[in-house]
Amino acid sequence: MGEELYQDRILVLDFGSQYTQLIARRVRAGKVYCEIRPFSADVEEVRRFQPKGIILSGGPSSIYGEGAPVCDKRIFELNVPQLGICYGMQLMADILGGKVLRSLKGEYGSTQLYVDDYRDIFHGLDELGLTSFTAWMSHGDRVEELPDGFSPIAHSENSPFAAMADGERGLYGLQFHPEVAHTPQGAEILNNFLFRICGCKPQWTMRSFVQHSIREIKEKVGRGKVVCALSGGVDSTVVAVLFNRALGDKLVCIFVDNGVLRRGEAQEVLDTLRKNFHMEVVFIDAAERFLDRLTGVEDPERKRKIIGEEFIRVFEEAAGELGGVEFLAQGTLYPDVIESVSFKGPSALIKSHHNVGGLPEKMGLKLIEPLRELFKDEVRLLGEELGLPREVIWRQPFPGPGLAVRILGEVTRERLEVLRHADAVLLEEVRRENLYYEIWQSFAVLLPVKSVGVMGDERTFENVVCIRAVHSTDGMTADWVQLPYPLLQSISNRIINEVRGVNRVVYDISSKPPSTIEWE
Ligand code: XMP
Repeated sequence: MGEELYQDRILVLDFGSQYTQLIARRVRAGKVYCEIRPFSADVEEVRRFQPKGIILSGGPSSIYGEGAPVCDKRIFELNVPQLGICYGMQLMADILGGKVLRSLKGEYGSTQLYVDDYRDIFHGLDELGLTSFTAWMSHGDRVEELPDGFSPIAHSENSPFAAMADGERGLYGLQFHPEVAHTPQGAEILNNFLFRICGCKPQWTMRSFVQHSIREIKEKVGRGKVVCALSGGVDSTVVAVLFNRALGDKLVCIFVDNGVLRRGEAQEVLDTLRKNFHMEVVFIDAAERFLDRLTGVEDPERKRKIIGEEFIRVFEEAAGELGGVEFLAQGTLYPDVIESVSFKGPSALIKSHHNVGGLPEKMGLKLIEPLRELFKDEVRLLGEELGLPREVIWRQPFPGPGLAVRILGEVTRERLEVLRHADAVLLEEVRRENLYYEIWQSFAVLLPVKSVGVMGDERTFENVVCIRAVHSTDGMTADWVQLPYPLLQSISNRIINEVRGVNRVVYDISSKPPSTIEWE
């Protein structure tokens, strides 16, 4: 979105820390707009962003290591308050004339920090009665000599300079990580930087975001026509409603049934948009096309590719028939954007599947991505602001290739029916226990093995269904959920009794990593 939108903005320079995104999220949680740029951003780029403050993230390097990331030194002359965290503090100390050395003893994990100066960054902690607090540390190097103008403001057992400040210039360094939950006072400390030191105002709300987005969409699109590919997930639904607010019937939503949706999935999405928002949604039942192409295919990547390609074809045809379409609205999120530019973001392998890759170039469409600055939890807040029902906002994520990656081996119509039924039973039970919204994803998987059982007096040789339920915050890592035994029991009983062709139910107790959430 436009440069002028949010007056108070913070820039985070990324030196490769696994917590960089978390810093941005914490800043935004304080209602201050924030973006992440790679450490290599030059001073002009930083100046153009007009930050009210700059945060230098941590990172895995030692400043003396080969290829250690160094930012443009002129950034320190911008006369903008800056906060260096961990590696960011060491870099700040080094560039400004202090000394950083490998310490004899590193500090990793929870560490007690003793405050020496309660002004500015640690303001208010004394009012909480704290002379020390617990902070999360992870460093092998440490600052040995402060640069001119700096004074020590906190120490720990192994770091005489666990925090440093040059109040005159508005420069601060923290050897610990205020952005992680293991530093309980972290939010107060970051807020002190944002509000006391940088003078930001908490203005960045979803309401302001909606207003700005609508204005921008109107300006960009003019008289053009926009299509939006709906998947039923929260991202594309939020995009559709946002565009609908901005453009009314110049927006056409297309929902493609690719034959590998859950039971009732398509209808639920259509009902929500048509009933609640009176939106025009073109529904294309392409199930047979997709399933025909999947016949005989067992390889997971082939399945994904076929579904992706077929989707493009169906979508192309539909948009062609509409005629005069100029723009494609897509629900790309911020993590997808920064992972491609940041220093060493986590691998973005799954992201290639997320969006309608290939469409814009092939069809000569211009892409509009109004969510490209938002994190998933912010999209959900935006959904609330736009009045989307809770079932959509908190719907569990569902992969683009759908049940095709949950049927191991060939996807046939019969096997789809078995899985749909088992999956519907599982979800019904999870909902009945009021656990649906507590869990990131819960679903059934149809395994490519058969097992022997006995039903009545008959020997059976039937399918095995696996239950998977995981907790996660972003899908990048996940823990299996300890579902209550009575719930597992009723899921298993019901699936075996009600779903024909299944005689065994097993429970997946693997976390990600090293497993993944989906089986394929
Ligand atoms: P994995 O299986 O990689 O999944 O641990 C992480 C998260 O991403 C979802 N997922 C997908 N989402 N298209 C999507 O839109 C895909 O191709 C895809 N593959 C996995 C998965 O459901 C989980 O939430």
